[in-house]
Formats: sequence, C-alpha cells, structure tokens
Amino acid sequence: MELAAAALRQLKPEAIYFVPGFHTPFKDLRPVPFAGRRALLKAALGAAGLLGRPEVKISSFEAGLRRVVYTWETVAHFRKLHPGARVYFLMGSDCLGGFKKWRRWRTVLEGARLLVGLRPGYDMAAARGVPFTALAGRFPRAASSDLRAALFLGGKPPELHAAVLAGILRRGFYLSRERALLKKILTPGRFRHSHETAALAVSLAPALGIPAQKAAAAGLLHDCARDLPPGALKKYARLRCPRAPFFGTMLKEAPVLLHAWAGAALAGELSGIRDAEIDEAIELHATGAPGMGPLARLIYVCDLAAPGRDFPEAGLVRELAFNDFDAAFRAANYVKLTYAFSGGGWVHPLSVSLWNSLQEKKKG
Ligand SMILES: [Fe+2]
Ligand SMILES: [Fe+2]
Repeated sequence: MELAAAALRQLKPEAIYFVPGFHTPFKDLRPVPFAGRRALLKAALGAAGLLGRPEVKISSFEAGLRRVVYTWETVAHFRKLHPGARVYFLMGSDCLGGFKKWRRWRTVLEGARLLVGLRPGYDMAAARGVPFTALAGRFPRAASSDLRAALFLGGKPPELHAAVLAGILRRGFYLSRERALLKKILTPGRFRHSHETAALAVSLAPALGIPAQKAAAAGLLHDCARDLPPGALKKYARLRCPRAPFFGTMLKEAPVLLHAWAGAALAGELSGIRDAEIDEAIELHATGAPGMGPLARLIYVCDLAAPGRDFPEAGLVRELAFNDFDAAFRAANYVKLTYAFSGGGWVHPLSVSLWNSLQEKKKG
C-alpha cells in the first residue's frame, strides 16, 4: 500500500490497478477465495485512504482467467486497455533479485517500466542489470511470506492495518479458524504447547524445504484429540481409526497413544484440511515410525522439543534441531524411548522399529 501511495504521489498516473490473482502464490491448504482476497484488498485500500479515488481500480483480469497468469500477460492486457500509455509495473526491491527467473521477463520489460520501492536490507547489486525506476523514499520490509507465517501463529504483524486483520479473523483465514477452535477444545496448557510446537516447526521449516503453512497446521493440530476424556477418546478411536497399528494393544495397554491417530481424524474434521502429510505427522507424532516423511519428522521433533517442555533434554534437542536436524531427530527418538521404557509399561512397537531403523542407517 505504501508503494502504491508513493507511486500515486510521484507519478500522478491516469490509473493504478491492483490485480489479485486467481490463485494465492503458493499451494494453499485451504485456498483463500478470490472474493475474500478482494474484500481484504478493499479493507487495506480503505485503511490507506486510497479506496474511492477515481484512479484506483481493482482488476479481475487475472482472477477471471481462473488459472495462474504470468506477469507478461497482465502487462500485455493493460497495454491493450490503455493504448499509447506509459505502463509501469510496481514492486518492492525484494522482488528484483529473482526477476530474471520470471516467465518471459524480457517481454515484461518491453511492455512496462519497473517501478521499484526500496526496502531496507536490500542490496542494489542484486538487480543484476535489470533496468528500473526507483520510487523516492524507503518502504517497510514486509515480505508476504513473513506476514503469512506470523498470521499462521496468531501474530498481529504491525504492517497489517487493524481493518485487514479483523477481516482475516472474521473469515477464519490463515488458520485463525483452527486456532479459535483449538482454544475451545484444549486446556490452556495444551493450547500453549500446541502453539509452541507450531512456532518451533515454522522456524525450522524453511531450512527443511517445508511450507510454513503445513508446519503451522500440523503443529497446531497435532494434539487436538489429547484432551478428550478417556472414554470418549476410545470411542472416537474405535470409530475413526480402528486400523491404527497395534490398535487392540494400544486400547488395552496405552490408550493415551490413541490420541495421535484419533487426532489426525479429528483434525480433518475440525479444519476441513485434507492433506496426507499432515495426517501422517499427527498420527506419528507420539510413536514415530520407520520411513516417516519430512513433515512428520519435523513435528515429532518439535513436539518433544517445544519450549514449554519441562524435561532438560527438550532444550538440547531444540538447539540441535537448528544445527543438525537429523541428529535432533535421532536424539528425540532416544529421549522418547528412554522415558517410555523407564515408565515400565508397554512400548509401542513403532517406536522401537524407528530406533532400529535409525541404528541400521548409522551402521550403513
Ligand atoms: Fe501428543
Ligand atoms: Fe504434543
């Protein structure tokens, strides 16, 4: 918004178009529908004092095509719409570094002049010869991926106007609906633990190539069935996950473990998110299993190493996770097994199989 306001002041254009895409730029678990994003855009324009100005327009060009639209196509569309006009493409300097990776970037430059707002911490050399006009002034550093990660964790990024944030919460976007539901069904301590697990998972996710949204959703939801009363948990598990490995023995010897498999079913019901990796992460967060996928490994570690855990190993595993995630994963398995065996009860065979598979890997 600040970029747009500066462009309006400095260039006094005939028209400035905001062009929401049909898809959000990353694969969304529960996509924010176009109408919702349009409403948020209007709230943001209103907050910036830009709504209602005759030259400010919202274009449905990209959304109307109902597919991913490349910038060169959008530029071509507006050239046709305003023949003979000088067309600018407005962006933050954080996008300049990757500009030459855009589809047909030379065509974009033929059709439009890049108009760039400088964000702090940006090195001009990263433009690598891409010509552009700089807007006067400095603009806030607000990469949309950082904003989304903060929203997934219930944060209130100061860059977002209160009206936009209220719109997000009202519509339940960015996992705010799931957070509100969990607050209702979990004890305050469990909710805090779920939040801490998610926050740790989001901070580790980029290095592991895992989308922040998946890390946040799995972390938040992993214990969603943990506070069901024992009878209700057993009943729900019999109904929804009777094929969980060693179901009968779990039911008899360690029914609390059922919260993992029941949790995956309940998470799908609560959130409407259907995602095999998230299901796996919730199912295996307590026992682990050989051959777990990256998201399941991440949640397994973060559940054990979340900041609120009061056993001393949690902090060590957490520290290790930032330096050597595989080592942290092995350590988490060791800690979980040690506690399970010292309890003297039945230990789920999946946990032991995981241990064995990790030892074999080490030998191999
Ligand atoms: Fe759990
Ligand atoms: Fe947990």
